[in-house]
Amino acid sequence: MNFAVLASGRGSNLQAIIEAIKAGKIKADLKVVVSDKKDAYALEHARQAGIPDVFISPKDFQDRESFDRAVVERLREFNIDFVVLAGYMRLLSGYFIGQYPNKILNIHPSLLPDFKGAHAIKDAFEHSVAVTGVTVHIVVEEMDAGPIIKQESLPIEPHDTLESLEEKIHKLEHRIYPEVIDLFARGHVEIGNGKAIDL
Ligand code: GAR
Repeated sequence: MNFAVLASGRGSNLQAIIEAIKAGKIKADLKVVVSDKKDAYALEHARQAGIPDVFISPKDFQDRESFDRAVVERLREFNIDFVVLAGYMRLLSGYFIGQYPNKILNIHPSLLPDFKGAHAIKDAFEHSVAVTGVTVHIVVEEMDAGPIIKQESLPIEPHDTLESLEEKIHKLEHRIYPEVIDLFARGHVEIGNGKAIDL
């Protein structure tokens, strides 16, 4: 199975995925990394690993869908079977999702449906919830929604700072995302009735 990673930022999840592939823990091929941000460190991680990196500027397109059409066109060149979002901070259009139905994964740093959006760790910390966590789900048109494949929780301890919580969340993400990607690539995740079942 071939997949692509889409990332907008520092790419620590991408790097965890690259390492898991090297260690034989993900039995699928990462063919290309695409970013909507020219200076995303994720692109540097790809280059260092010898994986083709592609930057596509949203400024070159009139709207979300025409940008997504350009991304999908590039993905087609790499015969991608599924897509992994790793800190990709753009909402995918219906067009994009329709090209890869039930074949796009996302990771989000909270126990969805709590704390959707771009600041989930900070929001959970500021709400002083006792427990937060990480969710891996299938991407649908609605932001940070879609069938949940895996969730793992994490207590927020009284001595935690935002920084220590971020560190713990990222550590958890780097463990569970490669696990889910491998399960997915090997056909162990079935989607039906809005639910994802880990076979
Ligand atoms: C990760 O924490 C990921 O869960 C989050 O962005 C971060 C990217 O970090 N994604 C979202 O908030 C999606 N709504 P990374 O670039 O170091 O992998």
